[in-house]
Amino acid sequence: MTASRTVNLAVFASGSGSNLQRLLDLDREGDLAGGRVVLVVSDKPDCRALERARQAGVATFAFNPKDYPDKPAYEREILARLREHHVEWIVLAGYMRLVGEVLLGAYGGRIINLHPSLLPQFPGKDAIGQALAAGVRETGVTVHFVDEGMDTGPVIAQEPVPVDPDDDHESLAAKIHAVEHRLLPSVVRSLVRGEVWLEGRRVCRRGEERSESL
Ligand code: GRF
Repeated sequence: MTASRTVNLAVFASGSGSNLQRLLDLDREGDLAGGRVVLVVSDKPDCRALERARQAGVATFAFNPKDYPDKPAYEREILARLREHHVEWIVLAGYMRLVGEVLLGAYGGRIINLHPSLLPQFPGKDAIGQALAAGVRETGVTVHFVDEGMDTGPVIAQEPVPVDPDDDHESLAAKIHAVEHRLLPSVVRSLVRGEVWLEGRRVCRRGEERSESL
């Protein structure tokens, strides 16, 4: 039996970090297909996500954007940490900032984001509130590659979540989180195994090349 390759991941988070926690738990259980969370990056030095990382014994890099003249300056600092930890993939899980040219230049096609709606519906902030305000019967979860836009990159996976008439923000968020905690790890495993990748703006999947050319 050949041992699977270890693939180093960085998770970026600004808030509670329940999705980070899920990845940390699966990593500990050896259930990330060889993926390992080696670094957690946050723009909110007091956030719960950083506590979770420290509790799991994972390296952290916290920064306050106001301490830097501009985005390229703090992203260069992040990039140095990513290289130090030999990070191959970046997972944005509740990171409340647009990724800029420095990180996209170095990690283009290797950054994914988790978003609580069926994109392109409800991009940007408070997608759950947007769905409730719009009165839709269904919203969902998207995992996509990151480009320079706000939640505009090529979609890797989506899963719908029904909105019930008596749902409020809290109940809908709970349903969405339950799906996220399953969908994000499954995408991470596919990336780590090399089953999904980006070519230009096209999401490629192993095994689909042949059927597309038929
Ligand atoms: C998730 O709902 C994710 O879709 C969005 O931010 C939220 C992060 O939740 N981008 P948590 O911090 O992982 O609990």
